[in-house]
This record gives sequence, C-alpha cells and structure tokens, in this order.
Amino acid sequence: MNEHELAVLKIGGSVITDKNGELAARTQEINRLAEEIQKANVHNLIIVHGGGSFGHPSAQRYAIKEGFKEDGQKIGFSETHHVMTVLNGLLMDSLIWHKVPAMSITPSSCLITENGRINHFEDTPLKALLKMAFIPVLYGDAVLDTKLGFTILSGDQLVSALATRLNAERIIMGVDVDGLYDADPKVEKTAKMFKHLTLEELKKLHGKLGKPTVCDVTGGMLGKIAELMPAIEQKIRVTIINASKPNNVYKALEGETVEGTIIEKV
Ligand SMILES: Nc1ncnc2c1ncn2[C@@H]1O[C@H](COP(=O)(O)OP(=O)(O)OP(=O)(O)O)[C@@H](O)[C@H]1O
Ligand SMILES: [Mg+2]
Repeated sequence: MNEHELAVLKIGGSVITDKNGELAARTQEINRLAEEIQKANVHNLIIVHGGGSFGHPSAQRYAIKEGFKEDGQKIGFSETHHVMTVLNGLLMDSLIWHKVPAMSITPSSCLITENGRINHFEDTPLKALLKMAFIPVLYGDAVLDTKLGFTILSGDQLVSALATRLNAERIIMGVDVDGLYDADPKVEKTAKMFKHLTLEELKKLHGKLGKPTVCDVTGGMLGKIAELMPAIEQKIRVTIINASKPNNVYKALEGETVEGTIIEKV
C-alpha cells in the first residue's frame, strides 16, 4: 500500500527541450532532473511532461488540435504521437538509469476526449502502479476525440485532471521562468513575479496575461493557468517553479520552499 500524500509534477517542455528549435532535446537537463527526482525519493508521485519542440511543431503543422478534417492530417496525428514517445523515451531512459522506478503510460492508449476535454479514462493500471509505489510518467499527447476525431491533450490538462481525480495534495509546475508574472518575463524585462495568489486573484489576472510567443498549441502560460483552476478550486496547492534552475525540483519535491508562485484557493 502507498499511503503517502500524492504529488503531481509537471516537467515543462520549455525545460527539457529548446522550444525555439525542433526536436531539440536538452539531454543534460533531463539527466539533472532525473537525478533530482531520484534524490528526493518521493513515494507517491506522478510525473507529466510537456511536448516542447517535439509535440508542438508537428501538432501545429497538421492542425491536430482543431480535429480531423482531411486524410492528409492522419500522418500528422501519427507523427505528433510518435515524437512524443521519443521525448518520453529520453526521459524514461534517464529516470531508469538513475534507478527511479518509473513506468510510462501512454495517454492516447488509455483515454479519449470529448471536444478536447478528457472523458473516458481507463486509469486502473495507473492506480495499481501508484499502489505499488511506481512512478507513472504521462505526457501531453495526440489523442482520439469523440466529437473532433482527434485532438491535442495538453500535459497541463492531464496534470489537473489527474490531481483532482486522485485527490492529490499538491501540484508542482516546472517551467523555464521563475514563476507567474504580470507579463511574459521573456518579453517584458520589467515584469513582476507573483509570490502568492489566491484563486480569486488568479481569475482576475487571467485575462491580462499574454499569448505564447513560441510554438505552443495549448496556449502557453495562459492555457496552463486556465487548466489549473479546477484543481485549485479543489484545494490542491499549486506551485509554479523554475525547473531549469538546479535543485528547485528536488527542493519542491522535498517540501522545501522554492522561489516561485504559490497559488491556493483561499
Ligand atoms: N505571465 C507570464 N508569466 C510567466 N511566464 C509567461 C507569462 N506569459 C508567458 N509566459 C511564458 O510561458 C512560458 C511557459 O509556458 P510554455 O507553455 O511555453 O512552456 P511549457 O508548458 O513548459 O511547455 P510545454 O507546453 O511544451 O510543456 C515561459 O517560457 C514564459 O516565457
Ligand atoms: Mg505549454
């Protein structure tokens, strides 16, 4: 039995890939994160990673998120899923090399969405893995959709859905900036970071945040925040941290305070 409180860790595609390139994995970052995860030795953890320069460019090129419209997109659906399995393989390789008992779960094989929202989710194997203290690893994926034919499921939606469904205690969102700012810190050098936000404050802020400047078919930071709201509503504590800075993920997993943005319901 696994009686520890559940944590869900998102490893942003912005951290493990170069989003200005294509199929550009940051293997050193992947190895460093695997080492930090191993060192933290958390007993009840799910990892979700994003698409970065693997999933997003293929998805955009073939308009996968918008759904099935013509046969020419089908190879794009296959390609988007495939490149995600390649990125997932790099992370799995590193985790297992570092002796982390991680098990990859393929989202497109165990869930279907309806208009982009998860509806059928066969989560029995995932729950059984958690019970045995394995670390399930999932990712943003190209998935089948009952209304659209197919679409893109973001790692961010997956994080929120898993956390709410499995009553997680906390969500750690790792990105390549220090937290949530009042504007994109890569564009506005004077942007200010929020250290703490309530759900109400976040809702007011949401409309004011900028659209992504790099290739991100699931809405970048704006999409991320929207997806997290139901989890925060359910009193799951969310922290947005810079996973590109060494030891931040380790410290966050250990429950230590890390510079970043904490978002709570009250
Ligand atoms: N208000 C904001 N505060 C913080 N970051 C922001 C803001 N607006 C835009 N960003 C950008 O959002 C990016 C993180 O979101 P993005 O979706 O690109 O990465 P990710 O979720 O890690 O990648 P993936 O979707 O591949 O997992 C940061 O690199 C930052 O430049
Ligand atoms: Mg994103």
